[in-house]
Amino acid sequence: MIQLHNLHHRYPDGTYALRGIDLTISKGEFLLICGANGSGKTTLLRIMSGLLKPTEGSISINGLNPVKEPWKVRQIVGMIFQDPDSQIVGETVREDIAFGPENLGLSLKEIKERVDWALEKMGLQSLSEKSCYLLSGGEKRRLAIAGVMAMKPEVILFDEPFTHLDYPGIQEVLKYMTRLHQEGHTLIVTTHDVEKVIAHIDRIAIIHKGEIKASGLPDHLVKELPQFGVRPPCYVILGGEKISWLE
Ligand SMILES: Nc1ncnc2c1ncn2[C@@H]1O[C@H](COP(=O)(O)OP(=O)(O)OP(=O)(O)O)[C@@H](O)[C@H]1O
Ligand SMILES: [Mg+2]
Repeated sequence: MIQLHNLHHRYPDGTYALRGIDLTISKGEFLLICGANGSGKTTLLRIMSGLLKPTEGSISINGLNPVKEPWKVRQIVGMIFQDPDSQIVGETVREDIAFGPENLGLSLKEIKERVDWALEKMGLQSLSEKSCYLLSGGEKRRLAIAGVMAMKPEVILFDEPFTHLDYPGIQEVLKYMTRLHQEGHTLIVTTHDVEKVIAHIDRIAIIHKGEIKASGLPDHLVKELPQFGVRPPCYVILGGEKISWLE
């Protein structure tokens, strides 16, 4: 589904954010990309979503090149940004969620159905006419997720999706992720909080200073997380079974 080969990225100020990333992600996979602050997670997701052009290397999403065909890639790949403020495009909650489906050229009826569905799924019905800028941090996060959900993309990139969410909010997002995974969507999530997703992911890729240091089954890699600045889940520290945040 996604193939990254020798991907490098250097920002205009000279910061070398990615240094030769090779990664293949299968259709339907639920992948966790974890690493310390500044390791390159957001940069990598932005390149996969076609928002940022790598300075070197190749990338293919379902056979498409996001550098050459960013618009086509954006129809397949949805990204929930780390900073929800930067994702707001509409005046009200309803308008904001409608923006994506409108750009897909759907009928008015289909747009309304999708917006109502996403409002309901993310528990935002009572806020549908509220100005986006007046929402709380957690509500903005729900809004960003609802906006991406309404586009029904095949691949969804979640950049630190649990930030600012309360316990029910985390469970709601996690439930939504597991449902999408069961339906065959490809999911890529970055988080420092491995605990919250560990019971549900298929694979972990550890990124450190712009390089993928390890990639493999969660059970094989959890013990290696501390050396890369990532806290392992409690069950690794205390012993016992893996616990889902949904239980
Ligand atoms: N627009 C930019 N211009 C210059 N440097 C940048 C820019 N965006 C990110 N960087 C730098 O690139 C490196 C990787 O940043 P990135 O945001 O990808 O890290 P991250 O792993 O997502 O970190 P975090 O866990 O804090 O979200 C960092 O050193 C950062 O300072
Ligand atoms: Mg980031």
